[in-house]
Amino acid sequence: MPRLIVTTRSGETREVEAQSGLTVMEAIRDNGFDELLALCGGCCSCATCHVHVDDEFLGLLPSMTEDEDDLLDSSDDRDASSRLSCQLPFTDELDGLRVRIAQED
Ligand code: FES
Repeated sequence: MPRLIVTTRSGETREVEAQSGLTVMEAIRDNGFDELLALCGGCCSCATCHVHVDDEFLGLLPSMTEDEDDLLDSSDDRDASSRLSCQLPFTDELDGLRVRIAQED
């Protein structure tokens, strides 16, 4: 199973394993990171699954849709590494993916 390395808002970092085929949001949430609210359940309509992705993995991710881009614009914590984790399939190629949960808006 691919590994995912998650840093929380308070700076705690934990490595977890998650089933390939989930989204990154599901992998984070299913491993007990309650601060990732993911309120819309992955429908790309809430932006509460916002994460910052480590630079070395940005090029491996699927392109951002217009909807994701618009939603991220509503966040004060947006930067070049921002993605909505529900829009990122967690595949074996992303083994070792590092993400940091974005600040709450
Ligand atoms: S869970 Fe709502 S946009 Fe990702």
